[in-house]
Amino acid sequence: MTLIRKAVFPVAGLGSRFLPATKAQPKEMLPIVDKPLIQYAVEEAVAAGITELVFITGRNKRAIEDHFDTAYELEAELEAAGKQALLDVVRGVIPKNVTCIYIRQSAPLGLGHAVLCARPVVGNEPFAVLLADDFMDTAPGYKPVLAQMTDLYSYERSSILAVQEVAREHTRQYGIVSAASYRPGLDVVSGIVEKPAPELAPSTLAVAGRYVLSGSIFAYLEHLGTGAGGEIQLTDGIAALMQAERVLAYRYHGQRYDCGSKLGYLQATAAMGLKHPETAQGLRAWLGALLEQGKLP
Ligand code: G1P
Repeated sequence: MTLIRKAVFPVAGLGSRFLPATKAQPKEMLPIVDKPLIQYAVEEAVAAGITELVFITGRNKRAIEDHFDTAYELEAELEAAGKQALLDVVRGVIPKNVTCIYIRQSAPLGLGHAVLCARPVVGNEPFAVLLADDFMDTAPGYKPVLAQMTDLYSYERSSILAVQEVAREHTRQYGIVSAASYRPGLDVVSGIVEKPAPELAPSTLAVAGRYVLSGSIFAYLEHLGTGAGGEIQLTDGIAALMQAERVLAYRYHGQRYDCGSKLGYLQATAAMGLKHPETAQGLRAWLGALLEQGKLP
């Protein structure tokens, strides 16, 4: 039995790094090959046994609700045209036993505030947080990243942050942890700071967008003032939680692509394009020819 039943998806962000593509559509609906980013994150949560999905949405995010809802007209047309395979794709976006809950974050007050908006639904239970623009490709031979973390939770019973090493010049993009080794791949967090300058960063161990958090975090988030960037930071809530409860940093197995950046998004597209049955062969041949002929600009 899985102990983590609920996942929170903060999706209210503006996506300004992808304008004009995100002028009228949510950044979470940008596709990697043929699936929107948010669907990959939802599939990762479902693979971890999660059955209640809590989306913290904002204005201009209606497409996300529509994506996880029944598409009557489309389904009727596909059915009438006898396009069964496509019908299965459309109907299979979300399993029947999974519930979607939408909560509006009415002001962009930060990630910590977005997570706090989920409190009425999550209550005091441990829960997961997934940032959909951190796209996680599953490592061969491993479960998807969130399932690795919920498995770990089932015997550690404490909050877990997904972490990876980053270059020191990039610390300003992440929550950075100080940690003491606990066992291979797993550390106990002793400090966490949001987006420190490289010269001030306590380490180069960065938080990636996957968290398993104790329900007690809400009590800390509720009383937080603004932090880095003038926003209510999840990182500051974790720093407060850490004073009262053990928080672990898990060096996950998997490949993260920062799909909030143009380069990361293109890399994820290429990586998944090289795995997708409809595109793998053609993309590999095309890239191979470009490299061979020295035609890469
Ligand atoms: C958020 C968190 C940060 C974390 C990062 C991972 O920042 O605030 O601590 O390291 O996600 O992607 P954002 O990328 O939303 O600015």
